[in-house]
Amino acid sequence: MAYFRRYAILTLLIVSIFCINRTVRCDDEEDSLLSGINSYRATLNLTTLTQNDRAKCLAEKIADQFKNQPCTNTTGSNTVPGTEPEFADYPNLLSECHLNVTTTRDGAVLPACVPNLDPTLVLSNYTQSQYSNSLNDTKYTGIGVGSEDNWIVVVLTTSTPEGGFSPGSNDINFVYKSGPMHYLMLLVVALLSFLWA
Ligand SMILES: *[C@@H]1O[C@H](CO)[C@@H](O)[C@H](O)[C@H]1NC(C)=O
Ligand SMILES: *[C@@H]1O[C@H](CO)[C@@H](O)[C@H](O)[C@H]1NC(C)=O
Ligand SMILES: *[C@@H]1O[C@H](CO)[C@@H](O)[C@H](O)[C@H]1NC(C)=O
Ligand SMILES: *[C@@H]1O[C@H](CO)[C@@H](O)[C@H](O)[C@H]1NC(C)=O
Ligand SMILES: *[C@@H]1O[C@H](CO)[C@@H](O)[C@H](O)[C@H]1NC(C)=O
Repeated sequence: MAYFRRYAILTLLIVSIFCINRTVRCDDEEDSLLSGINSYRATLNLTTLTQNDRAKCLAEKIADQFKNQPCTNTTGSNTVPGTEPEFADYPNLLSECHLNVTTTRDGAVLPACVPNLDPTLVLSNYTQSQYSNSLNDTKYTGIGVGSEDNWIVVVLTTSTPEGGFSPGSNDINFVYKSGPMHYLMLLVVALLSFLWA
């Protein structure tokens, strides 16, 4: 029994280490795209895009919808304009992020598919494709980036009521922010239980 308990706790320990790594890794790719996009805008003398937590929440949800689709030459930034995939449950995704269509209409959703999210290819998929149209646009002021497997999604927001991604407090995305912290706590608990088991 004691042996089994140790074994279970050890498993928990390994899982929590894995989760920390994974969360951090995803954040790295998103952060690198974010700073890449802002550098690109700086060279065009455009304003820096500020992070919007609800846009990030939506980007994560959309990336989650895409994650099982393979990358092809007709997905992501290669999609022919007007043939973007529609999500039947888009309104649900919005409401899960405390958003509705009224305040998100003018935003832009830009998904890209890049094997292993290679940072250089990811950035060029945005700056050297039809997406540069949106990135060059002065009307966008905010950004949220989410990723899942080979998919990364950028959501751009405006400073107008129709694209400001209000209402709701920025706290609603607590789960994402507290991700690594959450697993770290789990790790500490598991470690202590392991020592005392
Ligand atoms: C950006 O602004 C600088 C200084 O005002 C100017 O020299 C440069 O040509 C501008 N670049 C673009 C792309 O407008
Ligand atoms: C996509 O790839 C297929 C086969 O690899 C090719 O036949 C097709 O022309 C390509 N389409 C575009 C838009 O490049
Ligand atoms: C969306 O939210 C805004 C602000 O709370 C509200 O005024 C509007 O009626 C909502 N629209 C829909 C379709 O729920
Ligand atoms: C976008 O990423 C794909 C890999 O999925 C790559 O083949 C393609 O060259 C990239 N496009 C641009 C414009 O960088
Ligand atoms: C965005 O701006 C860059 C630099 O001025 C330019 O090379 C590119 O063609 C522009 N893209 C679009 C879609 O206008």
